[in-house]
Amino acid sequence: MKVFTVVGARPQFIKASVLSRAFLSSNIEEVLVHTGQHYDKDMSDVFFSELSIPSPSYNLAVGGGTHAQNTGRMLEKLEELMVAEKPDCVLVYGDTDSTLAGALAAAKLHIPIAHIEAGLRSFNRRMPEEINRVLTDHMSSLLFSPTEDAKRNLLAEGVSSEKIFVVGDVMYDATVFYSNRATKPSWVDQAGLEIDNFVLCTIHRAENTDSEDRMKNIFSGLADSCIPVILPMHPRTRKKLDSLSMLLPDIVRIVNPVSYLEMNWLEANCKLIATDSGGVQKEAYFHKKFCITMREETEWVELVDKGVNCLVGDSSDLIRSAINSSGFYDFSEFFYGRGDAGIKIVDVLKAYI
Ligand code: UD1
Ligand code: UDP
Repeated sequence: MKVFTVVGARPQFIKASVLSRAFLSSNIEEVLVHTGQHYDKDMSDVFFSELSIPSPSYNLAVGGGTHAQNTGRMLEKLEELMVAEKPDCVLVYGDTDSTLAGALAAAKLHIPIAHIEAGLRSFNRRMPEEINRVLTDHMSSLLFSPTEDAKRNLLAEGVSSEKIFVVGDVMYDATVFYSNRATKPSWVDQAGLEIDNFVLCTIHRAENTDSEDRMKNIFSGLADSCIPVILPMHPRTRKKLDSLSMLLPDIVRIVNPVSYLEMNWLEANCKLIATDSGGVQKEAYFHKKFCITMREETEWVELVDKGVNCLVGDSSDLIRSAINSSGFYDFSEFFYGRGDAGIKIVDVLKAYI
């Protein structure tokens, strides 16, 4: 059996580490293709070396363009490779432009598509990710959903239940697998950070970075934090922030993107997390940390229902008060499987192929 995996963006490398390991131990041949959507060392190479992900068989070097440019260029190159490699199935993760390109190229060649993280919905069609995930789900033969909620979304759109497998979340598999290898970033001591006394923050979502008003509101809320805010900054956000030339107080410390094992250390040792990332919202829960989500809606609705994730949009007042207040949060219920999603996916793939 030959699986053709398409990855391109940071969270996909982390998810692919789980499946690549499972494929290796099941003697399944994997052709790993990196589209090049993310290309900086600290957005790409670091994950391959740190998480022992096999080097990609191909790197398409497509990145830095608009959605259409990226997707179109990937599509052309992926089709060529799929024709040459003749895989039994194409595996795609999540909701990026690389996901859509991989799925679309495979669909036109009649190659079965397996979609990991199927069925998540924000119900906001202005998000590029929402378009990517809806289209990918409807082209896929095997839809691996992390939660029952995600399965319900697919059923409501008319996807046949026979194609849907609720397997848990591969990101939880990764957190479990790497939990005892979390690495303290070298700058933590010098920065005088105290355990459980800083906010870990990430921002990269287009709806925030592409709006000057939203960026200003969010950073003004963060600037009023009474404890240090550590912000490993996505290159997209850095470019936008530079263009705004905002003066930030010392309490907000901007650092380069960190590695996955460093991120795990920061998540485990912060007081709370403020983010607009999909993956980081869940990791906050895995590490039993309250999460402030700087978006209007989330795909991970169970966390909001449970009161451990608070949607604050770009309101500086809400960000300020959420950061500076404290409370008791219940992390006892678990929604994301048992850390064996990767194994379950491989079992389904074997049976299907
Ligand atoms: C993409 C995904 C988003 C995911 C995120 C993970 C889409 C539509 N969006 O968003 O769902 O949450 O990845 O991080 O696919 N850049 C660099 N160096 C890099 C990578 C990006 O400088 O290594 C800059 C470039 O200016 C690039 C911009 O960031 O044009 C945006 O990158 P892109 O991959 O298009 O989108 P992300 O915001 O990273
Ligand atoms: N992450 C990381 N270093 C960072 C920021 C995030 O390793 O500096 C990891 C994080 O732990 C999570 C994943 O990247 O596993 C989330 O990716 P991102 O926020 O870029 O994308 P999203 O999940 O929103 O699609």
